[in-house]
Parts: sequence; structure tokens; C-alpha cells
Amino acid sequence: MKVFLVGYMASGKSHLSKELSDLTGYPNIDLDDIFEERYRISVNDFFNKYDESSFRRLEQELLQETESQPNAIVSTGGGTPCFFRNMEFMKMNGVCIYLRVNARILAERLQNVKRKRPLLQKVEPGDMEAMVRKQLEIREPFYLQADHVIDAQNIIPELIMKLLPELPRVI
Ligand code: S3P
Repeated sequence: MKVFLVGYMASGKSHLSKELSDLTGYPNIDLDDIFEERYRISVNDFFNKYDESSFRRLEQELLQETESQPNAIVSTGGGTPCFFRNMEFMKMNGVCIYLRVNARILAERLQNVKRKRPLLQKVEPGDMEAMVRKQLEIREPFYLQADHVIDAQNIIPELIMKLLPELPRVI
């Protein structure tokens, strides 16, 4: 079984993915990490050197490579569900969970980790919440196609384990 975690930047996908991987024994696949390992460049530098559409093409390829893994917890990038037919792919190949967090909290979290996020480099601190809100309006129609939507403000892995009783538990 494959679980795809989707949601905006800083919604907690990577963190939750590691925790679920520990609990289930399933491999943790973080698409951004795989991208950086494979192409030996940070996502940030890639955006600066090339462009977003090249990133999206490579990101889609990495997503599709997960097809060869029977079991995995996959942490996607914030934009992954919003390009090509990636959302359809994830739902066909596993269970998709949207970690929903409100714009105010996302903006607060993102102030601290902006450096690593190419799409936020030029956003002034006072504009962050409005920017997130605007982008969420565009992205949520994709995120909301997930099989499960969970309020991820205070997400605990146990909640997902209950939601998906078919997941094994190794610890
Ligand atoms: C992006 C989110 C990032 C990364 C890239 C683009 C986005 O992943 O894939 O910077 O479009 O929202 P995280 O959601 O893990 O920050």
C-alpha cells in the first residue's frame, strides 16, 4: 500500500512521513529529497538556475517512479498535486491524504523556513499570509481531491494509523 501526503509548504508532510515510515516499516520517499540526491542540486538552486516548468517535469517523473514500490509513505512537494495529472496518478496508485493547515499558521511557519523555498524568496514578511491565502485558493481544488482531508494543525501519526487500519505496525 502506498500513502501519498499532500499539502501546502510547511503543512508537515515530511515530518509526518518520517513518523509513519517508522511506525509502519514502509520506506519513506520524500520527493524533494530524492530530487536533490538524484540531480545533485538543491531545489532552490535548481529554480534559480533553470525554471519551474523543468522542475515540474522532473518532479512528475520522480512521482511516477514510485509505481515500482509496492509499499511506501510518499511526501510530495507543495506543488506536486497541482501539475499534470499527478493527483489522478496518486489516487490510482495509493491513498492520498491532504494535510490541511490554515493560511495564518502556514505563513507563521514559513517566515522561519523561507530560505529553502524558492517560490517564497521574494515575499516580504508582511505579505506572506496574503500570498499563502491567494495560492491556497488556486491549489486547494487539487488538494481537496485527496481521499482523506485531515486537519493537520496538530497532526499526530496515530490519527493516520486509525484512519488506515490496513497499515502494518512494526513498533
Ligand atoms: C513547492 C514546494 C516545495 C518544493 C518546491 C516547490 C511548491 O516542497 O517542491 O520548492 O510549489 O509548493 P515543500 O512543500 O516540501 O516545501
